[in-house]
Amino acid sequence: MKVLVTGGLGFIGSHTVVELQNEGYQVVIIDNLSNSSLDVLKGIVAISGKTPIFEKLDLKDKVQVQTFFKQHQDIQGVIHFAASKAVGESVEKPLLYYENNINTLVYVLQELEKLNVSNFIFSSSCTVYAQADVMPITEGAPIKMAESPYGNTKQIGEEIIQDTCKVNAKIKAISLRYFNPIGAHESAIIGELPIGVPQNLIPYIMQTAAGIREELSVFGDDYPTIDGTCIRDYIHVVDVAKAHVIALQRLLKNKNTSNFEVFNLGTGTGSSVLEVIQAFEKVTNQKLNYKIVNRRSGDVVSAYADTTKANEVLGWKAQYNLEDAILSSWQWQKSLNAV
Ligand code: UD1
Repeated sequence: MKVLVTGGLGFIGSHTVVELQNEGYQVVIIDNLSNSSLDVLKGIVAISGKTPIFEKLDLKDKVQVQTFFKQHQDIQGVIHFAASKAVGESVEKPLLYYENNINTLVYVLQELEKLNVSNFIFSSSCTVYAQADVMPITEGAPIKMAESPYGNTKQIGEEIIQDTCKVNAKIKAISLRYFNPIGAHESAIIGELPIGVPQNLIPYIMQTAAGIREELSVFGDDYPTIDGTCIRDYIHVVDVAKAHVIALQRLLKNKNTSNFEVFNLGTGTGSSVLEVIQAFEKVTNQKLNYKIVNRRSGDVVSAYADTTKANEVLGWKAQYNLEDAILSSWQWQKSLNAV
């Protein structure tokens, strides 16, 4: 069975391709290599022993998208990761983000409308909840005004899919709202590859420990939390990847109860920034250089998932905990240093 993975050489995309191939799917990857490289493709092949079809294609090129789908009419499902994801950059360049994340989604959905079987998995984010009023966050929590154009593209993306599903019962979609995906494949052959100075916590910790950065800045210790630092739900990327396979199977087997469903992907456990640092120090047995600095604008105080719906309805549960995920990130970082 042929499955298209857009953005399949990215962080979550590449891990999902591995899981799909492990389950026997034939994978076609589209990626424009804007934030990835062909080495990732080699890594996928090395891990799974199978070579996915790869097309370097920019989904912003509508004609190319049309041509691609004409050539691959036997695609049974699409997992759509391709998107830009840097929050700060999206504030600087909003139109770039709307073009990259919205136009491309529309072009893909337009082609799905022409196909006979259309199972669509969307890469969404807990950012749609902004600062939720109640913890843990259920899928029923209100969608709040987005903090950034990036966040807005996830909200608008879900609306576009939902509107499309309303008028085209042939299209079935699941939107997966990730909390904070971290970690790397256990082989340490694929993982997260931030370009330039990392913006996210785990890559920054790894590069600090590896000596690439001098010290981690902890953004604020005066939040109303157990130790004053922000709380997030860090989830292993392999767990996130497996959830995509399960979601796709749900659609392929017509087990969905409506043709647009949403699920939170998290562990259900919130960890503070200081707890993450402690977990890093414990599993690696080394101290991390860090200092407390001012809050980062746009950060929510706390966000962790209620995973009941994902556990009971989707039939998926995170298998790894924070320490497992951090250890895998560290092994990945060490493999990068060794190159
Ligand atoms: C961020 C985005 C989110 C996006 C996700 C994945 C914001 C506001 N949110 O999530 O929309 O889906 O990345 O790309 O940017 N921290 C430090 N020092 C650092 C880096 C982070 O203390 O150098 C803290 C942050 O203040 C936060 C926590 O670590 O409390 C996690 O930060 P990060 O990894 O950037 O993820 P989010 O901000 O939760």
